[in-house]
Amino acid sequence: MKGIVLAGGTGTRLYPLTIATSKQLLPVFSKPMVYYPLSVLMMAGIRDICVITTPSDQDAFKRLLGNGSSFGVNLSYVVQSTPGGLAQAFVIAENFIASDRCALVLGDNIFYGSNLTELLKRASSEDNGATVFAYHVDNPSDYGVVVLDSYGCPTEIEEKPAVPRSHLAVTGLYFFDETVVERAKGLTPSSRGELEITDLNRTYLAEGSLNVVPLDRGFAWLDTGTYESMLQASNFVEAIEKRQGVMISCLEEIAYISGWIDSQSLAWSGAKMGNTLYGRYLLRLAEEGCKGAADER
Ligand code: G1P
Repeated sequence: MKGIVLAGGTGTRLYPLTIATSKQLLPVFSKPMVYYPLSVLMMAGIRDICVITTPSDQDAFKRLLGNGSSFGVNLSYVVQSTPGGLAQAFVIAENFIASDRCALVLGDNIFYGSNLTELLKRASSEDNGATVFAYHVDNPSDYGVVVLDSYGCPTEIEEKPAVPRSHLAVTGLYFFDETVVERAKGLTPSSRGELEITDLNRTYLAEGSLNVVPLDRGFAWLDTGTYESMLQASNFVEAIEKRQGVMISCLEEIAYISGWIDSQSLAWSGAKMGNTLYGRYLLRLAEEGCKGAADER
């Protein structure tokens, strides 16, 4: 299975923070925002990953993430020249996807929870249809909203409804089968001229092959769409990392636990980060191994 991190967009809702840089490069406590969604694909076991950026931000992403070898993945980059909607990702990354299945994660979505890895592995091993995740929120009108019947099967999915029919938001993480590119190409642009991810999901819903996995209240799905939610996400990550002494979304750690890099590589990355929380953490892992952290997963 392939993976896409969609990190395009103009970020106008966060101006002036995003005038000179991409939203997904802004810090969320100890690391750039894009680390969090990237770590989700890695936890799902996906190693061929395409990062989609605006033309002007691509170099900055390359400087940050390179070819992915320091955290055991193969990264490629594709540009989204005009904001054509989330589902456009599958059209512009067609060559990268080839005839494979593909997951998409939005570059500003943060997920945290104890059996997340298990849920992700299950979703990525699904051969047919689509899998999305639903999360109870207070403000469903800001998201795609799904309605489930008493068996947990989706009956309806709507993008940012003024009058939402449930409190279940569809998160920005999607697993699709190998028909996704053709489906995305067949979509009609919405009234705002974009290929909507909700319309793509609807094609699976219509065939009864949209699988919705509820993330219960033990999970954190954090938003980074406003100044306040960015600060809340940073505070959340700080609280967990400082209290437990383990990092959330440390890419090198996930790669090490997965057996994709060795302790020498960890030490090298740690030395490169210097005397920072992140650098010291990597050096400690290289010395002690990831035993403690791995036990928690
Ligand atoms: C997008 C999707 C929406 C989804 C949300 C999750 O909205 O269109 O369906 O619920 O991401 O983050 P956006 O936040 O880009 O407006």
